Amino acid sequence: MYYSDEVIEEVRSKNDIVDVISGYVRLQKKGSSYFGLCPFHNEKSPSFSVSRQKQMYYCFGCGAGGNVFTFLMEYENYSFVEALKYLADRGGVKLPEQEYSKEAKERADTKAVLLEINKLAARYYYVQLKQTQGAHALSYLKNRELSDDTIRAFGLGYSNKYSNDLYQYLKSKGYQSEMLIKAGLISVDERQGVYDKFWNRVMFPIMDVNSRVIGFGGRVMGDGKPKYLNSPETVIFDKSRNLYGLNRARSSRKPYFLLCEGYMDVISLHQAGFTNAVASLGTALTPGHASLIRRYVQEVYLTYDSDEAGTKAALRAVPILREVGITARVIRMEPYKDPDEFIKNLGAEAFEERIGKARNGFMFSLEVLEKSYDLHTPEGKTEFMREAARRLTEFEEEIERNNYIEAVAEAYHVGIGDLKNLVGKVAVQAGLAVPAKRPKQTNQQHGGKEDGIVKSQKILLTWLIEDESVFRQIRPYIAPSDFSEGIYRTVAELLYEQYEAGEVNPARIMNHFADEEEHRDVAGLFHTRIRELTSAKEQEKALKETVLRVKNHSIEEAAKQLDPTDMPGLQKLMDVKREMQDIQKLHISIN
Ligand code: UTP
Ligand code: MN
Repeated sequence: MYYSDEVIEEVRSKNDIVDVISGYVRLQKKGSSYFGLCPFHNEKSPSFSVSRQKQMYYCFGCGAGGNVFTFLMEYENYSFVEALKYLADRGGVKLPEQEYSKEAKERADTKAVLLEINKLAARYYYVQLKQTQGAHALSYLKNRELSDDTIRAFGLGYSNKYSNDLYQYLKSKGYQSEMLIKAGLISVDERQGVYDKFWNRVMFPIMDVNSRVIGFGGRVMGDGKPKYLNSPETVIFDKSRNLYGLNRARSSRKPYFLLCEGYMDVISLHQAGFTNAVASLGTALTPGHASLIRRYVQEVYLTYDSDEAGTKAALRAVPILREVGITARVIRMEPYKDPDEFIKNLGAEAFEERIGKARNGFMFSLEVLEKSYDLHTPEGKTEFMREAARRLTEFEEEIERNNYIEAVAEAYHVGIGDLKNLVGKVAVQAGLAVPAKRPKQTNQQHGGKEDGIVKSQKILLTWLIEDESVFRQIRPYIAPSDFSEGIYRTVAELLYEQYEAGEVNPARIMNHFADEEEHRDVAGLFHTRIRELTSAKEQEKALKETVLRVKNHSIEEAAKQLDPTDMPGLQKLMDVKREMQDIQKLHISIN
């Protein structure tokens, strides 16, 4: 599944980044860079810059950045290989045939076939809705006040009243039963033979972020059970990594999403002009959803149903969103059940007002908590404040925690100082002198110390990339092998090679990382701003400490590996340790 560096670099060099991005963003030349409105966050004045010379882009507003591949991965949600194929095509580069492993090839083929099948099925259902046999389904949708435009935009359809109608159709298009079963559209059992999964239902195609149909929800017209039948998860349909409506919401240019529970809520909201509405696919919100959302916005307004289940779901969603850095607000729908009913009864303006009155997610969770305590008695209030304090300890960042302490103190009429003390006390009692560490959901599960060293290596690399004179000064002491094995060492190796060859080409280094997570991580190295924060003197000090930390860690690791009888190895280690003293004395100058 790997293409050679040469091929990747050829594709990259045939696609000038300014030309490619100009197809998406209106750019204007200013000095040596091009500027435009950032497509990755909402802004009024341009802070998105593209450099023809470096072949990289960077947004000073939201920190998005990378090379031409990164741009397409972020904007089109392509995988690296998809971006590569697209750009190869655009630049007229013929990619070599891949030597796939048999399984990899089968998996890729299956995916492509399942996408085709879903697309055909969606078209078929859509056509049925417009035929005589679909008349009652169409009138069902009309009764629910959906316009023709909305029905078209969401590709709504109808599955006929015959037991194997879609099966016959797809068979006639040449698809094997096996694939149709894999797509989740067909079931087989001994008694009934082969039959369609969806039968006499209004069909909601579920699309991924690139508007490819990956599954369906089918609703009964009336009160039958189950209300919605959904496609099972397949190799192309992962419910915890897709959101209904995201293919449209991503380009709404609002700085937040409205997150609701149902397909119909999303559709009504879009029809009413709230084109930033999305919903999970009949499952609870997962960390996967949260990171997906985080690619587009930093704020989410939860518009869950106003019943108990909806409230619970909202309470559960708040910390999941917070974990990835999304602030949650909660919109209440009372006296209506959900956004769909609300809009039908009170209209878009009233909904807009509710958005304005949305409550902060954490404060909302306290309001719900409040109901299980009697705040009119001293014991009740004390108990409540204790639980509130415990929840406050979960804010890791001091500033954020203090902001919430202030807000809670004000809302519940207690002194800020008193509440702060209580939070401290609760934290100590729970053995969390430092506030509770929330579990990280990234795949690197390091301990605290590891995390620290990874961060130092990352900072050091950013320096080395940014400033050639820093590189020259540090080079005698730090080698690529001082970085932990993995992506940072690889970046260091490539960077050292490029410096030696006399030309640093960041866009080319990025080519090396085809895995999406890695690619993003590496992109981060090329646009971390370290300079503005402090004076040159402080920077020099911080940089030196970073060099020492990285070197020290590398020595410790080497010592751990060392066989005690390996005398030359021991000698070498002593030498390196002596070098540490040189670094202590070193004056790194930053210009
Ligand atoms: P709701 O019952 O709130 O449905 O379930 P809704 O979208 O508002 O639909 P209408 O307005 O009654 O037609 C919310 C979501 O939960 C999932 C679906 O994704 C639905 O949109 N669900 C619900 C199911 O998967 N199966 C069900 O039987 C019910
Ligand atoms: Mn509803």
